[in-house]
Amino acid sequence: MQYTKEERLLNPFPWYDTMRKTDPIHFYEQYGIWQAFRYNDVQRVLSDYAAFSSNFGGPGEDPLSTSLISMDPPRHRQLRNIVTQAFTPRSVAKLSERITAIVTELLDKVAATGRMDIIDDFSYPLPVIVIAEMLGIPQEDRERFKHWSDAIVGATSSGGANPQQEMGAYFLDMIAQRRENSEDDLISALLTAQIDGVHLDQRELLGFCILLLVAGNETTTNLIGNALLCFDEYPETMDQLRAEPDLLPTAIEEVLRYRSPVQLMYRHAVSDVELGDHTIRAGQMIMAQIGSANRDEAQFPNADTFDIRRTPNRHIAFGHGIHFCLGAPLARLEAKIALALLLERFQDIQRVGDIPLETTGSDIVYGVKHLPITFRA
Ligand code: HEM
Repeated sequence: MQYTKEERLLNPFPWYDTMRKTDPIHFYEQYGIWQAFRYNDVQRVLSDYAAFSSNFGGPGEDPLSTSLISMDPPRHRQLRNIVTQAFTPRSVAKLSERITAIVTELLDKVAATGRMDIIDDFSYPLPVIVIAEMLGIPQEDRERFKHWSDAIVGATSSGGANPQQEMGAYFLDMIAQRRENSEDDLISALLTAQIDGVHLDQRELLGFCILLLVAGNETTTNLIGNALLCFDEYPETMDQLRAEPDLLPTAIEEVLRYRSPVQLMYRHAVSDVELGDHTIRAGQMIMAQIGSANRDEAQFPNADTFDIRRTPNRHIAFGHGIHFCLGAPLARLEAKIALALLLERFQDIQRVGDIPLETTGSDIVYGVKHLPITFRA
């Protein structure tokens, strides 16, 4: 069966299924890239850093290429140790009250209309505001900051300016201010941190700030959006969750598995390495197909069923091993508060069905651009 690109992006799961069964480690001739589709192989590619490197050695001045996510040990561990503290479940739990206030404000804005776009009005602004506050961006700069972060993740055109450079200049200015006057925010914490008595250099600091935006915002937006897609497919789950709100964390894990916001990550082989029946040659790239691994029947019974009570659920939507998502506790908390309040305050939630779903257009980030719903407040 032939699919258009848009159909495949919205529903890649039948294709994954075929690949897992027929060609689980596939060589993509046209691009010279490997793809792994089965749970065990994907997990290995993500976590075996000695064989599969994350460091693509991009252009020297690009702050992201020197950030945590593109770093191998030993530097990876040193840098990660510095930032771990701010993102532990305990640290992020302190943000609960603020996240609740932001979610309440977003829902208040639309409550009277009986209609909202889950993405534009809710799941998109939420993580941007949260991360801006964590970093210590003053309220009056929020709009500018949102504009840059939109442009960097490609949601809007940057109108000729270079948003990464503009935001970089802004952060450098902020870093200079915090050096003078430390405050209770993430930038100040990063400034005081040291590795073997040495502070992070400016490029590392900048790379980390930008990484938080790129890695954290669109993904969280889509986790919340994808939850609504799951609820739309299985409408009874909304009442089940209203009746048993304690099921929400398990339900969120199931959304992460069933419609993983990040569908794939890249690695490249450090030297020739055996994977299944194949040899990946030194330097060749490999795509770890997370979205497929999370539908692997060998790991998940009834993998194509969305089950809000699924336990155990060892999905790898946040990766696996040393690069396991730093922001996972924050993303889980934001999703929990957002969905709990949405379901509590709004009844009879229905997707506006006559508007066709349009995907993000990306192979990596799974989700939709808009998700209009109606409800009774
Ligand atoms: C549902 C939301 C999210 C999903 C699905 C997600 C997914 C992922 C995945 C799959 C990785 C592993 C990358 C790899 O192995 O190469 C990762 C790493 C990372 N994520 Fe997330 N993420 C989410 C939210 C966040 C948030 C909210 C933040 C921060 C505010 C964040 C920050 C990071 C960072 C810094 C890394 C790199 C960690 C390292 O290399 O050690 N993520 N994320």
